[in-house]
Order: sequence, then C-alpha cells, then structure tokens
Amino acid sequence: MKKYLIINGVNLNMLGVREPEIYGNATLKDLEDKLTKKAKELGVGVDFFQSNFEGEIVEKIHSAYGSYDGIIINPAAFTHYSYAIRDAFGSVKMPVIEVHISNIHKREEFRRNSVIVPECIGQICGLGFKGYELALEALVCETE
Ligand code: DQA
Repeated sequence: MKKYLIINGVNLNMLGVREPEIYGNATLKDLEDKLTKKAKELGVGVDFFQSNFEGEIVEKIHSAYGSYDGIIINPAAFTHYSYAIRDAFGSVKMPVIEVHISNIHKREEFRRNSVIVPECIGQICGLGFKGYELALEALVCETE
C-alpha cells in the first residue's frame, strides 16, 4: 500500500482557535480525521506530523526518505523563509505538494513568496481543508 506523510508546520496546532476568520473553526484533529477518511477511500495510508520547530520538520523529512511515497506539507510561516526545509526536500528528492489553507496571494505581501515550492510538484492554496484532500489525490496519481 502506498504511504504518504502529511506535515503541518508552525502554529497549525492552533487551528480552530487561531484567526478563525482566516483559517475556520475546525481543528487539526478534524483535518487529520478528514484526511484519514480520504486516504481510506483512495486505498492508501497516511501519517501525520505537526511541529513548531523547523529542525524537527527537517529531521522528519530526512526520516521519511525510503519510508513514504510522497509528502504533503503546509509549512505555514516557514513557507516564507525556511531554506532549511527547502534543502531538506532537495536532499531526499521525494514527490512533495505544498498546501495552504488561505489564499496566500490575497494577503500580506510577505506571504506571496514560498521558498519551498521550487522543490515541490506544485502548490494548492485558498481552498481550505479541501486543498489537502486534492493534494492527496494528486500525489496518489503522481506516484502510481
Ligand atoms: C498558511 C499561510 C501562511 O502564510 C501562514 O503563516 C500560516 C498558514 C495557510 O495555511 O494559509 O501559518 O500556511
């Protein structure tokens, strides 16, 4: 069975509490439950990881090498400045899709740039939690 890792970065443990007008009222647990259901429908496995620490995310990406068929990541604020996470993806050369809950192009200027997306197949943003489900479908197709 194909297996995918879904990583959520800094502050995403606060979903449901954090700026609900932007990110909605649902929690990280709600997101993970939704994706577990989607993975079952698609006949694939998923594991989840959330961290507020850049280095922990880098180490998780390294350890995913050889154990997963692809990664979905919402790097959150790390998106905009973490060359360390970008280089981690450059090191493992796995299929990666970047997801954002909000439309980062409609918000503050600094959110428009992702330093990580050059290492990804693509990016989905602005579609809420649905974006993760679409990313999973795309990753499954990509790694068939
Ligand atoms: C986010 C967008 C980022 O700019 C922000 O720092 C986040 C969440 C999103 O999912 O919309 O923490 O990645």
